[in-house]
Amino acid sequence: MDTTFWLDKWDRRETGFHETSPNPLLTENLSVLNLKPGASVFVPLCGKTLNIGWLRSQGYAVVGVELSPIAVLELFEDLHLTPHTTKVGALTCHAAPGLRIFEGNIFDLDADTLGKVAATWDRAALVALPKEVRARYAAHVTALTGDVPQLLVTLDYDQQQVSGPPFAVSGDEVKTLYGTAYRVSEVVSRPTSVKGKCPGTESLWHLSPVFGS
Ligand SMILES: C[S@@+](CC[C@H](N)C(=O)[O-])C[C@H]1O[C@@H](n2cnc3c(N)ncnc32)[C@H](O)[C@@H]1O
Repeated sequence: MDTTFWLDKWDRRETGFHETSPNPLLTENLSVLNLKPGASVFVPLCGKTLNIGWLRSQGYAVVGVELSPIAVLELFEDLHLTPHTTKVGALTCHAAPGLRIFEGNIFDLDADTLGKVAATWDRAALVALPKEVRARYAAHVTALTGDVPQLLVTLDYDQQQVSGPPFAVSGDEVKTLYGTAYRVSEVVSRPTSVKGKCPGTESLWHLSPVFGS
């Protein structure tokens, strides 16, 4: 799966992953992160998620990264914001008060460009990536953010029954990917249906840095 896969999804409006209201796992559990007012939250592979508007409405700043120019355009339209746009290396930065979205590939984003963030919200980002990319992604997000705390949503199910994305990611894999830098604890685990085809488990993980941050 390469970047063309996602750009084509947005072109064809195959965006079933997009939720029409802020995700309750975020709205009901953000307090776990103990963020200071005005703190910045990193939203990798953000699409045009309504969680960004919700985080801003709670007084937090948001920094996102997203491949698709369509998603970025519609994100700002939905928020009734006109971004100031600049080129930053291979990425394009779209900025408005309390919001910066880097349009491009997350692997082209570096820590200096991202700037300081206080936490990461990962929903449909890790699980959007095939197994062979997930270790690189997890290490990159950890390094980019300086291993700030994360709330991470995963989905686990029988990968033989349904093909991803979203891909099945087990608790053991979360611990393998993040267990060196983070203490990994499960906040919520609940049954779900994957594409209406197969039972699965959706989990919310709190990753808190082992070395403090
Ligand atoms: C399953 S969607 C989830 C979007 C969002 N997190 C949400 O909850 O609605 C995954 C998103 O990641 C974007 N994406 C995939 N690979 C990417 C990459 N390497 N860099 C930046 N964005 C990427 C896709 O364009 C897509 O919008």
